[in-house]
Amino acid sequence: MSKSVILTGLRANNDLHLGNYLGALLPLVDLAKNKAGEYQINLFVPDLHSFTTPIDHSKLQQQIIDNVKIFVAAGLPLDSANVFVYRQSYIPAHSELTIILNSFTGMGEMNRMTQFKDKASGLGDDRTSVGLFDYPVLMASDVLLYSATYVPVGDDQTQHLEFTRDIAERMNSKFGELFVIPKAAKTQHEFFGKDQGLRIRDLQDPTKKMSKSDDSGKGVIFLNDSPEVARKKIMGAETDSFGDVQYDYATRPGISNLLDLVNLFGIKREEFIGQPQYGPLKTAVADSVCDFLEAFQRKLSQTDKAEIIKKLEASEKEMRLQANKTLLKVQKAVGLRP
Ligand code: TRP
Repeated sequence: MSKSVILTGLRANNDLHLGNYLGALLPLVDLAKNKAGEYQINLFVPDLHSFTTPIDHSKLQQQIIDNVKIFVAAGLPLDSANVFVYRQSYIPAHSELTIILNSFTGMGEMNRMTQFKDKASGLGDDRTSVGLFDYPVLMASDVLLYSATYVPVGDDQTQHLEFTRDIAERMNSKFGELFVIPKAAKTQHEFFGKDQGLRIRDLQDPTKKMSKSDDSGKGVIFLNDSPEVARKKIMGAETDSFGDVQYDYATRPGISNLLDLVNLFGIKREEFIGQPQYGPLKTAVADSVCDFLEAFQRKLSQTDKAEIIKKLEASEKEMRLQANKTLLKVQKAVGLRP
């Protein structure tokens, strides 16, 4: 029996922040480290998805490599034989399966996708690409080609995961057992634990999550912030006027967020609860974050492009074999192959 597959797309860009790191990157890296014995781990760069909304194509090559570098700096082990890191477009089966599945997908189904509606709104019909409309079908192909059972994704992707299950079931009932059905979102959450979807809050407005779209950038710690800048942002974090440290998001979101942050960096938040001043907590958060940023930025500058390319190419070779096997089954089932 081959191993069950855990698969996900590596979403990264150059303005990642601490919330992305702790809530998305780190859980994936931990997964690759801790589950690689028991599972096959597929982590891929969804490069064909990257221009479903307009981008600067002259930067794409660089971004793909930088994207993988960020994961490597976060600790992704490139030497693990059960971890495959690859570029979607290097495995043509993704595109081919998408074209086939398109004919079994309803326009209405795609029209109901909230991510599509959000991204298309304001663009106007002629600037909304068919690629954006078809995004979930390509995503379903990404998953189904490798018979993935577990697919860790953020809440914004749950609807796409549900579609993946629907199209897989539809094809299986029409053509026989072609695809492994990935687990439902609820089972996925149980499997990955509640750390997935962890939300670090904005330091200036702790009622909302840390997000790169924050206008001033003052409430957001970017992974490329200098430690001095990060320290200023943390020391200036919005708190409250209660005057003692308590963990309660309903009434004290700012302090609670800082408590969660120290905790994530390995200092027990209980050490601060009840203290009559906020300064020591802020200093502890700032020290931890500065240490982290220094280490992360050093590792990022030490990542080796040649080593990354080597890993990508080796993984792509193996993944082409796995993906082509599934594709051939589908091609036979729909009558494209004898
Ligand atoms: N759409 C995903 C995201 O924005 C990325 C992605 C593409 C993906 N294909 C996938 C995730 C397949 C999981 C499985 O995060």
